[in-house]
Amino acid sequence: MKHYLVTGGAGFIGANYVKYILKKHGDLKLIILDDLTYAGNLGTIKDDLKDPRVEFIKGNIVDPQIVNSIFEKHPIDFTVNFAAESHVDRSIENPQLFLQTNILGTQNLLETAKKFWTVGRDEKGYPIYREGVKYLQVSTDEVYGSLGETGFFTEKTPLDPRSPYSASKTSADLIVAAYSETYKLPVNITRCSNNYGPYHFPEKLIPLIIKNILEGKKLPVYGDGLNVRDWLYVEDHCKAIDLALLRGKAGEIYNVGGHNEMKNIDIVKLIIAEIRRLMAENPEYRKALKPSAPSVSDLSWINNELITFVKDRLGHDQRYAIDPSKITGELGWRPETKFADGIVKTIRWYLENQDWVDDVISGGYQKYYEQMYGNR
Ligand code: NAD
Ligand code: TYD
Repeated sequence: MKHYLVTGGAGFIGANYVKYILKKHGDLKLIILDDLTYAGNLGTIKDDLKDPRVEFIKGNIVDPQIVNSIFEKHPIDFTVNFAAESHVDRSIENPQLFLQTNILGTQNLLETAKKFWTVGRDEKGYPIYREGVKYLQVSTDEVYGSLGETGFFTEKTPLDPRSPYSASKTSADLIVAAYSETYKLPVNITRCSNNYGPYHFPEKLIPLIIKNILEGKKLPVYGDGLNVRDWLYVEDHCKAIDLALLRGKAGEIYNVGGHNEMKNIDIVKLIIAEIRRLMAENPEYRKALKPSAPSVSDLSWINNELITFVKDRLGHDQRYAIDPSKITGELGWRPETKFADGIVKTIRWYLENQDWVDDVISGGYQKYYEQMYGNR
């Protein structure tokens, strides 16, 4: 039986991954370490926490004592590091927190894994590790910088981060690579494009636009709205991480994403049209509208006039696009969900799960944590 340490498992992608591997693999033990920042919510994984295979620990990945105590208590085989400060706009406001969590936290996890996984030394002095262990770093395509109108990021594209967020993620990747080279620690790095799907915190583009429409608010589009992102349905990403962890060759980097490029403005218009269509087809969905929305019976206000172009993000990367041919060729992964299908699934999920949105915004789940776990 494999013992997983999954950090950031109460966040958007981490929680989706927890759900994915619990369903996919029968025999495992899963330790979730998450500090429950504004972006992490225990309620997101409350059903998963009932599973006897799962244990939740509240704590900071930067803290050596907490990470040590987990490895002392559990024979961890895999560390999958999702925990991070993840929002570019927040990194522009407060860069230092990003360096602490994303860089120092990663190094702390690597160091602890190295210590507990070492079973000997070879003749050159390199550590020899327990059979079957691996560290996987969940990284981002933003480490490659920004593309013009053409071209794709491959694993060989030079690193060229632009924002404090992407600089911190790049630094983390470099320290992972250093542990791989210097100590021969078995690692993988996956670099994925923008994810979307259920449980996405409503400060990122797609859930924020959905939330604002439901509240009848304006929809803020940065700059001219022509920036391009390569959207990846979160479950496709979870499949890629599972494959890379179990089948990826140690030391390899895998780009994850592809073939779902969209301009921001087109996404916003698509969400407007889809919400209106879904609510027209099924009046039950109108229950998701908030009291501040102009009307429940007449949906004509849900139109492109809600869009407002606002001041551009500082250093706004123009375009991201992934070439996933390495992970497709080596591990057989490909993005299965077309944006047109994934976005409808996502919108439906939000329309059906407004309680979750209300709670993560109000901090309701933080209260839930206190009730469940006291001050631990
Ligand atoms: P998220 O912000 O939704 O979740 C992050 C989680 O990490 C939260 O549960 C939070 O409580 C936890 N966390 C933050 N700081 C912590 C700390 N110091 N110690 C312990 N836990 C801490 O992020 P996400 O969108 O799920 O992203 C997960 C990972 O994937 C991140 O490493 C991010 O850089 C990477 N990534 C995300 C995207 C995307 O589109 N969302 C794209 C590429 C890469
Ligand atoms: P975001 O979801 O923050 O992800 P990232 O910055 O990691 O790509 O933003 C996606 C794109 O949407 C990005 O080009 C910035 C833009 N954006 C807006 O136009 N308006 C918004 O309110 C937000 C949050 C983002």
